[in-house]
Amino acid sequence: MITSVVDGKHVDGGSTVASSNPARLADVVGEVAFADAATFLRAAESAKAAQREWAAVPAPIRGRAIAHIGRLVEDNKEALARLVTAEIGKPYAEALGEVQEIVDTCDFFLGEGRRLYGQTVPSEMPDKQLFTHRVPVGAVAVITAGNFPVAVPSWYIVPALLAGNTIVWKPADYSPVVSAAFHEIFVRGGGLPAGVFNLVFADGEQTFAGLQQSLERGLIDKIGFTGSSAVGREIGALAGRHLQNACLELGGKNPLVITPSADLDLAVEGALFSGFGTAGQRCTSLGTVIVHESVHDEFLARFAKAVEAATVGDPAQEVLMGPMLDQKFADRYEEYLDWIQPHHTVVGGKGRIGADNPRDGFVGDPSAGLFYHPVVVDGVRPDDQLFLEETFGPIVGVITYGDLDQAIDLANRPGYGLSSAIYTTDPQEAFTFRNRIGAGMVSINNSTSGAEAHLPFGGNGKSGNGSRQSGVWVLDQFTRWQSVNWDYSGRLQKAQMDTVELTPDRDFRLDD
Ligand code: UN1
Repeated sequence: MITSVVDGKHVDGGSTVASSNPARLADVVGEVAFADAATFLRAAESAKAAQREWAAVPAPIRGRAIAHIGRLVEDNKEALARLVTAEIGKPYAEALGEVQEIVDTCDFFLGEGRRLYGQTVPSEMPDKQLFTHRVPVGAVAVITAGNFPVAVPSWYIVPALLAGNTIVWKPADYSPVVSAAFHEIFVRGGGLPAGVFNLVFADGEQTFAGLQQSLERGLIDKIGFTGSSAVGREIGALAGRHLQNACLELGGKNPLVITPSADLDLAVEGALFSGFGTAGQRCTSLGTVIVHESVHDEFLARFAKAVEAATVGDPAQEVLMGPMLDQKFADRYEEYLDWIQPHHTVVGGKGRIGADNPRDGFVGDPSAGLFYHPVVVDGVRPDDQLFLEETFGPIVGVITYGDLDQAIDLANRPGYGLSSAIYTTDPQEAFTFRNRIGAGMVSINNSTSGAEAHLPFGGNGKSGNGSRQSGVWVLDQFTRWQSVNWDYSGRLQKAQMDTVELTPDRDFRLDD
């Protein structure tokens, strides 16, 4: 039985839920006991109580803990990836990549323990020194989704720990087994003292209530949240009421523009991977292809062929696309399919794969799991719900444009702003797109997915509040700048008033 871990101890009791393999629903991967708001509150108390001592561990030593965690993740890479595949149905090759992303994140931050630089700043007065220090924020609540059940949590947890914060982590409710494994590797690998990294399994309602109570009692100093824009709004509002700014990583309706100069085969490859990898359930997944009218037919023909040839099926084998993450995602995806209108043209199959709706070349038994046809919808229009809203799942829209300005307006129109892509061989087009696109991330001749672990990751508009994860940039989420001035002149020197004035000769002119 998988349970929450508060202050280093497993928490008994609570309602039990089975986590099943979405590729073989009859296989139960593990059972988890769901805790309540009171457990969340106790976890926040524990994190708060442990924080001062954790921050007192010298940063280079915390960096060593991160180094050890990274090595232990590496030593367990295949086992952890297998769990990711079993519990959420991510194809094994992608699951290995996901685990590697934790290792990359640890590799980046282990050295940050010996940097975590502050600055020395000159003073406007003699015998006075100015400094800046990075100070940990405190106890951090991390609430994450299950489509990247280990990589994305590491983007919060690794830098937060490194910077001297303690954690309450509430992972997705449909990936408890892999979350418990992640937690154990971190606690054991890092030799983390009890209370530094707490784990709480709870449903959304109990989590929100626990978070609210923790904030009211001053136990949580920062929230990191990855999930839907709708829940992100609530979390952001809650944080704002407590004068905090949450680190939000939300949904996307990521556009991929194809110009007449593009290498069409490359664009097809990119659209296929970002549209249907992880069964379209990444926040960076491709939403709509915005293709120039002159190359639309050729692109669509090649894309349709590639989608038809793509392998779908058992994620433990070599497939492009496995099942939906969980039943609730399958149910929601079926609603998105209802957004397809009579003016649309569906290319290829549609709906749940089974004996009555087969897919050629399916790997394994489709009726055992939550498998859906990858869908391409042509003829999308700018006011369609399908164009404007995120559709978490294997569905890609196609729309045409006439000139680049129109393409960029279309790309920005849904109001998200996470990832974006343009396929072009014209630098003028590439730079114009980069300049005017509202997204936090821009790919040129690369798909909307596949961010590297040390470049800022995050979005604007409905995709987030401008916070960025990864690399040095995320340190601003988990530390606050403290400025220090030290006057050793032995007298009170008043800033702006007791400064020395030099006398410039403002009338001087060069002879004509
Ligand atoms: C997410 O979907 O929440 O860029 C993160 C990518 C991955 C991370 C996606 N490295 O697609």
